[in-house]
Amino acid sequence: MSDNTALIYRTFGVPESVLSLQRVEAEELAADRVRVAMALSPVNASDLIPITGAYRHRITLPAIAGYEGVGTVIQAPPQAAHLLGKRVLPLRGQGTWQCLVDCPAAFTVPVPDDISDTLAARAYINPLAALLMLNLYPPAGKHVLITAAGSDCAALLGQWALKRGALSVTGVHRSPVHRQKLAECSIRPLEETRAAEIETLAQTTDIVYDATGGKLADLLLSSMRKTALFVSYGLLSGQPYRVLPHHPPTQWFHIRNVLDAVSAAQWQALFAELWPLLRQSQLNDASLFPLAHWQEAIALYKTPGRTRKPLLAFSAKA
Ligand SMILES: NC(=O)c1ccc[n+]([C@@H]2O[C@H](COP(=O)([O-])OP(=O)(O)OC[C@H]3O[C@@H](n4cnc5c(N)ncnc54)[C@H](OP(=O)(O)O)[C@@H]3O)[C@@H](O)[C@H]2O)c1
Repeated sequence: MSDNTALIYRTFGVPESVLSLQRVEAEELAADRVRVAMALSPVNASDLIPITGAYRHRITLPAIAGYEGVGTVIQAPPQAAHLLGKRVLPLRGQGTWQCLVDCPAAFTVPVPDDISDTLAARAYINPLAALLMLNLYPPAGKHVLITAAGSDCAALLGQWALKRGALSVTGVHRSPVHRQKLAECSIRPLEETRAAEIETLAQTTDIVYDATGGKLADLLLSSMRKTALFVSYGLLSGQPYRVLPHHPPTQWFHIRNVLDAVSAAQWQALFAELWPLLRQSQLNDASLFPLAHWQEAIALYKTPGRTRKPLLAFSAKA
């Protein structure tokens, strides 16, 4: 048994209200798992949404928050001894917003030496979602539009769609602060308030990857051709969108629906594909918060117009 500290929620609700930092005992390590001392873990929409109860049918309470991060293997069974002391992504095991995370050895991803902790901590949810969406709904030869373009996930979708032969990528963004970075990535910035321009552009757009839903999705769907495709992967506005018979087809993407069928070997192959892509991509900068300051990290996450991704920083004893 070892001392551990974790961000736990016992009821669903507003993350700042229902999360609490607690000392817990780490249980004996299971035979097929490794134990990772965490270094950094990001605050993503994908971490906060489940705490609100959006997926309450799949979550047993109490639960430890967090889905990704980076750390160092401190304990491993004999068959995974090669991972001891290695920097890894401790994925698909316990919640990652805790100092010690146990995760299945076969799905533990070694991090290449030249990848920084701040990049490695964010190498899973958004990059893998972007890669899998582009595999499922290819952008080659198409005019592409992404929404919530200031987000890490959309920025990667846009950059990688261009690499895969998209004819153009437009990034519809809420805060003006994202304009320059988008332009630097060859993504045409377009502010969300410019409804007439969005409507006109949507008429010649072949594929939309949307993370906002609500009024923006309604505007896009009502303007796009029936032969186009609308891929929905988030509802940041908190509002649904309407699907009508004259709209183009819509596809709902969720990473977990794809990953259920991915073997350990396929999983490692996906990361072998992701590392070179991430080395060449622009992401938002990172701001680090000691675990004890987790509320400030969430407050930054919720600040419109931020250009930095908050990361929780762990120490051996928080
Ligand atoms: N379905 C999946 O499998 C999957 C996987 C990964 C991520 N996602 C989704 O991808 C989205 C982005 O996640 P992320 O971690 O990349 O985000 P992020 O980097 O933390 O950025 C979030 C951005 O969203 C923008 N935003 C927030 N509320 C908005 C609204 N109502 N309208 C327009 N823009 C809004 C903010 O833009 P401003 O700065 O301009 O205010 C902010 O920059 C989320 O919806 C998440 O759930 C889905």
